Amino acid sequence: MKVFIARNIPEKAIEQLKEKGLEVSINRSRKHLPQEQLIAQCQDSHFLILVGNAKLDSYFFEKCAHLKGIALTTVGFDHVDLAAATKAGIPVSNTAGSLRKTTADIAFLLMIAVSRKAFFYAKEVREKQKRSFDFMQDLGIELEKKTLGIYGLGDIGLELAKMAKAAYGMKIIYHNRTKNEEAEKLVDANYVSFDDLLAQSDVVSAHVNLSPETKYKFSKDAFKKMKNSAIFINTARGKIHQEEDLIVALQQGEIWGAGLDVTDPEPISPENPLLEMPTVCILPHIGSATVEARTKMAVMAANNIICAKTGLEMPQVINKEVYKK
Ligand code: DGY
Repeated sequence: MKVFIARNIPEKAIEQLKEKGLEVSINRSRKHLPQEQLIAQCQDSHFLILVGNAKLDSYFFEKCAHLKGIALTTVGFDHVDLAAATKAGIPVSNTAGSLRKTTADIAFLLMIAVSRKAFFYAKEVREKQKRSFDFMQDLGIELEKKTLGIYGLGDIGLELAKMAKAAYGMKIIYHNRTKNEEAEKLVDANYVSFDDLLAQSDVVSAHVNLSPETKYKFSKDAFKKMKNSAIFINTARGKIHQEEDLIVALQQGEIWGAGLDVTDPEPISPENPLLEMPTVCILPHIGSATVEARTKMAVMAANNIICAKTGLEMPQVINKEVYKK
């Protein structure tokens, strides 16, 4: 049986597939294939490992309904039309749990970097601008004993909460669709309404999947409800915040700063005013970009394909209903 891997992944995962008797065909490029090429490559394959967030829409599933399983190498699956996959009878897996610490690290890093304007100062140093000690200019704010509000307290949010508590004794509040009682015990987190999360937090960090419910959740109205001294962090998906509204909220001082690992669109336009703001830190979607996490993600994807080949359910399947068909 044959698996097509849509972009390069660590050798360890490729070797595992081969050891289990799968014939591997791989696009060694670091870029997405155009959709027609991806469809063409899948024609004589039984399985697909999709690398990154290339779109799999209903047209793709019409043309590739013969596939027996698709393994994503991401946790997020907003780029995949799951209903179309299920209709075609194709199980799709993700890499849930593979990057909790890695992405929480980036949220933590952004929180500190924004609070101390670190990227702004680093840029000045890199551009060799002279700045002498100034007692009153461009001061940051401290995180000690402040309130961290987590929107979507799952595994990544919980890791961030643990770090924030251990490092700064931060008080943790959260808003979820359903309460996370385990996290409440572990980090003393208090469940609050979304509006209370906005009103009470010194730092608000988003850790939800992108869905119709969460899309543009942070727009004009939400920013207005936040403290003027608040920091907004997004390491989830760029469309969870409304970028134009975020720019206005920062320009008008409705919130203090923002740390984004995800933007809308990606990559961010070099003209975007966020790039010039002292209290804004932007990264290019590196929440899972470590050797360890990317290896884990690729191996997990390979393991899902190996299970599918063996006739077993994919352990990280996200459209479980496909197995009931
Ligand atoms: C994920 O796994 O969803 C990360 O955001 C990488 O795309």
